[in-house]
Amino acid sequence: MTSKETGTHGAVLQDEVPDKDAPIVELRGAGKAYGNIRALHGVDLKVFPSQVTCVLGDNGAGKSTLIKIISGLHQHTEGEFLVDGTPVRFSTPREALDKGIATVYQDLAVVPLMPVWRNFFLGSEMTKGPWPVRRLDIEKMKKTADEELRNMGIVLDDLEQPIGTLSGGQRQCVAIARAVYFGARVLILDEPTAALGVKQSGVVLKYIAAARDRGLGVIFITHNPHHAYMVGDHFSVLRLGTMELNASRDEVSLEELTNHMAGGTELAALKHELSQVRGVDVEELPEESDLTAPVASSEGKS
Ligand SMILES: Nc1ncnc2c1ncn2[C@@H]1O[C@H](COP(=O)(O)OP(=O)(O)OP(=O)(O)O)[C@@H](O)[C@H]1O
Ligand SMILES: [Mg+2]
Repeated sequence: MTSKETGTHGAVLQDEVPDKDAPIVELRGAGKAYGNIRALHGVDLKVFPSQVTCVLGDNGAGKSTLIKIISGLHQHTEGEFLVDGTPVRFSTPREALDKGIATVYQDLAVVPLMPVWRNFFLGSEMTKGPWPVRRLDIEKMKKTADEELRNMGIVLDDLEQPIGTLSGGQRQCVAIARAVYFGARVLILDEPTAALGVKQSGVVLKYIAAARDRGLGVIFITHNPHHAYMVGDHFSVLRLGTMELNASRDEVSLEELTNHMAGGTELAALKHELSQVRGVDVEELPEESDLTAPVASSEGKS
């Protein structure tokens, strides 16, 4: 039986179980130059279904550039980008979406004053009746949004409330449920926990795991090795535009991951720079070895 349906976003909804050993998205030696600025170089990445692939890296490491290539916002200027084993080059995010690659940006594209259910269907509204009297099927949209949020374990008291009144974490969760509903196979999350407190981050991590359990390949961008390690199956650390570490969960410990993120040599360079600034006591800065100990998360502040 191969009856295929098309999701409202146009993504092909598959009824076969995806091959767990075949990457949905793959980068081979991919890179991106903005004019003569080389933001990304020689990057290899594989995103498998039912796995959370974490991309870590400091500010300016190239994380956003990497996901912009995959989400169709920018094009790679070197190497290869494959979807389902076929080389692709997207010119718009719409083309990525058609292949089932959905992106949740940090500054979520929502209309704050519109109700939750309306935002859930924003741009892909359900309609009823024949043209020219076709109109929005409000009841069906409310019911579906409610069901889909519940399916993901997200319980909101009132879907009529403006989405602007939800917490940042809840909004991320609605965006995740929306991507799942519209048939995403790959879900890209750009620093979804960066602006959240500890508890809300935990909630978002829970839905990242829920999306993974639904069979999606999740790309989770974060600065925070602790958050990554809580849900990650695979870890890729970017430094200055190149992939410094590519390891599966059994190949790397949280300590090693934290150490990679902290970057001893860069800390030494920073100390040197700061030593030339009056009023900064560089001796107070942590040593590299201190950085491997769990630290209070800088992303934990709201
Ligand atoms: N549109 C652009 N034009 C020129 N240079 C850019 C552009 N976008 C990014 N860059 C440069 O590419 C490098 C990587 O940037 P990118 O935004 O991918 O980093 P990031 O890892 O997402 O950082 P952050 O953690 O701050 O979000 C940086 O040096 C940045 O200045
Ligand atoms: Mg970024």
